[in-house]
Amino acid sequence: MAKTTVAVLFGGRSSEHAISCVTAGGIMDVVDRDAYDIVPIGITKDGAFTLQVDDPARWAIHDRHLPEVLDNGTRVAFPTSPASRDLVVSHADGTVTTVPDVDVVFPILHGPFGEDGTIQGLLEIAGLPYVGDGVLASALAMDKHVAKAVLEHAGLRVAPWTTVLRRQWASDPVDVAESVAAHGFPVFVKPARAGSSMGVSRVDEPSQLGAAMDLAFEHDSKVIVEPRVVGREVEVAVLEGRDGVPRTSLPGEIVVPEDGFYDFESKYLGGDESLLCPAPLTEPQTDEIRSIGARAFEAVGGAGLARVDCFLTDDGFVVNEVNTMPGFTPLSMYPRCWAATGVSYGELVTELIELGRAAVR
Ligand SMILES: Nc1ncnc2c1ncn2[C@@H]1O[C@H](COP(=O)(O)OP(=O)(O)O)[C@@H](O)[C@H]1O
Ligand SMILES: [Mg+2]
Repeated sequence: MAKTTVAVLFGGRSSEHAISCVTAGGIMDVVDRDAYDIVPIGITKDGAFTLQVDDPARWAIHDRHLPEVLDNGTRVAFPTSPASRDLVVSHADGTVTTVPDVDVVFPILHGPFGEDGTIQGLLEIAGLPYVGDGVLASALAMDKHVAKAVLEHAGLRVAPWTTVLRRQWASDPVDVAESVAAHGFPVFVKPARAGSSMGVSRVDEPSQLGAAMDLAFEHDSKVIVEPRVVGREVEVAVLEGRDGVPRTSLPGEIVVPEDGFYDFESKYLGGDESLLCPAPLTEPQTDEIRSIGARAFEAVGGAGLARVDCFLTDDGFVVNEVNTMPGFTPLSMYPRCWAATGVSYGELVTELIELGRAAVR
C-alpha cells in the first residue's frame, strides 16, 4: 500500500517557535513509518519556508537549549494551483526539486501566523488537506476578546473583561484605568492575540497598570483586562469525533506556583512536575469539564483538536481560553490527557493525520 505523505510545518514567526520544533521532533519520533512519509518544512523565525531534516534528535531540547529552524538556503513553495499537490523546493545551489503528491499538511504551529487561521487560509487556497482547526475557529480562538464573546454567547461561563485598543490607551489612559479598576484588583492584563503567556502580567495595584499595559501592547494593538480568577487551572483535551460528536479526555491540572502564574518559563523549561493528569477531581466535576470542553469546541466550530482551559473556582468552572494548536510535545498537557484516557501519543498522531485527510471544510 502506498504511504501517506505528510508535510509537517513547524517553527514559525511566533514566540512559540522553539516549542513547535520540539513537537515536530516528537512527531517524527513516533509516527508510524510503515504508513507515513514525513516532509519536514521548517519555518524560520523570519518566516522563510525551508526543507529540514527528518531527525527527531535535531529538534529535541538539549541541556535546556531550545531548537531553532536555521535558514539552510532552501525554499519550499506550495502548489500554485489546487490541481497540484506537489511542493517545489529550490536549493541554495540553484537546483530545483519536487516533493510530489503531498497528501496532508500537519501545521504544528502556535500563535500568530500558525494558530490564527493565516496558514490555514494558505492551505485552503492551495487546496491541500490539513490537520486541525480551520480558518475561522483558529482565528477566533486566537483572539481572546472574540473568543470570550463567542463562548459567552454559547452559554459558557467566562471571566468578565474589558477590551482596550492601543488608541484608547494612548488617548485616554485615565478613563481606561477607571474601567479597569472597576474589576477590582488584582487584574490580569493580556495581549488579545499572543499565547505562551507572552506579555501577560498580573497587576496587584493601580500603580502597576501602566507598565503592564505597555508590555501587553508590545505584543498586540488590542489588550484585554480581567479580574483575577481564584481557582485551580484545569484543562481538557478535545479530539474531533469520527461521528461528529467531539471526544474529550480526562482533564489535567496545572499546579501553579504560589503567588505566581503559568508563565513562559514554567511552561517550557519547568519540567513536567507542574502537570497532573488526570486531575484530582470528583466524578461530577470531571463530567462537567468534559462537557464544557465539547461545548466550547463546538461553539468555536472546532475541527481536529483543541485544548479547553478552565479555572475551577469555588462556584464552578470558568472557561479561560480555547487553544486550537495546544502544546503537543510528548510531555505536553494535550497528549498526556489523552494518554491518561487510553490513547497513546502515536495513536493520537495517526488519528489527527487521518482526521485531517478526511476533513470536509
Ligand atoms: N483572570 C485570570 N486569573 C488568574 N490567573 C490568570 C488569569 N488570566 C491568566 N491567568 C494566568 O496566566 C496564564 C496565561 O494566561 P492565558 O490567558 O492562559 O494566556 P496564554 O494564551 O498566553 O496562555 C494562565 O495560565 C494563568 O496562570
Ligand atoms: Mg493559556
